[in-house]
Amino acid sequence: MAFPITRHRRLRRTAGIRGMVRETLLTAEDFIYPIFVTHGTNVKEEIPSMPGVYHFSMDRLEEEIRDVVASGVRSVLLFGVPEHKDSIGSSAYDRDGIVQQAIRAVKSWAPELVIVADTCLCQFTDHGHCGIVHQDTASGTAVVDNDQSLELLVRTAVSQAEAGADIIAPSNMMDGFVHAIRSGLDDAGYSDIAIMSYSVKYASAFYGPFRDAAHSAPQFGDRKTYQMDPANVREAIREADSDVAEGADMLMVKPALAYLDVLRLLKEQFDLPLVAYNVSAEYSMVKAAAANGWINERGIVLETLTGMKRAGADIIITYHAKDASRWLRGEE
Ligand code: PBG
Ligand code: ZN
Repeated sequence: MAFPITRHRRLRRTAGIRGMVRETLLTAEDFIYPIFVTHGTNVKEEIPSMPGVYHFSMDRLEEEIRDVVASGVRSVLLFGVPEHKDSIGSSAYDRDGIVQQAIRAVKSWAPELVIVADTCLCQFTDHGHCGIVHQDTASGTAVVDNDQSLELLVRTAVSQAEAGADIIAPSNMMDGFVHAIRSGLDDAGYSDIAIMSYSVKYASAFYGPFRDAAHSAPQFGDRKTYQMDPANVREAIREADSDVAEGADMLMVKPALAYLDVLRLLKEQFDLPLVAYNVSAEYSMVKAAAANGWINERGIVLETLTGMKRAGADIIITYHAKDASRWLRGEE
């Protein structure tokens, strides 16, 4: 019996000692902040289910970018809410589309900020699915056609790289998307542009507020034929394996909070930088409880983000990024 020779509390006695033995460090450099860009002028409209997160028109975007930089956050993830939707999501790969415009503008305002572009079609298709939809004559149901969708996703990725995106982040969950986009980028002369693959993306109820924000809810059916079943974890290894083989530069697990075991597993089995996406409903639940005075927002957020890093994340995409970054600097 080691007691009382072993006393764990010795290393918890002072803030200095606790700091010295702390195993997980959260810093502003870990964060990527998502931003929603839309058409129009003088738009800064709060997303009702995501307090503190806004839609910005191009003319109001600069003030937000300045605020991101001032907070200490070094990277943004851009989402577009287009004016025009059609069955093939053509605004997604328009050279002058909303995301492409935003990428160019952000680069000009803050050249040092790392710009990540979400590559998907669901905000741009009128049916709200992440690819091309076909009526399957045999079953009489609508299906998302994998290989045809890839062509459009490649065009989208190339147009984003052309606009100046530093990292392409395909979130569509079609099979072979990393290979297709890698080849497309290389052929277009963008072999230096990295791919952050949404490798392990579950069909999750935690995307609800995002779909309000991005107007991207599927108009029929759901995403279960392409996003993963929340009950599966061995399948996550297969998804990550194929992405690595296809040339992904970073892997992602999404959502984060209910999937920390998946983060840990991928961390143990793969060497690539690992990203956790702290998704919209994870954010909204905290904001709602905080607004009611039920929790200490700052404490909850920093503890949650630390937990994601401890589980294995190297990078965290989070709507809390600006706040967390300021809190870590000791600001209010
Ligand atoms: C688009 C996309 C989604 C999210 C990121 N990219 C929604 C979805 O797949 O339905 C979710 C982000 C969030 O909830 O914060 N494919
Ligand atoms: Zn999508």
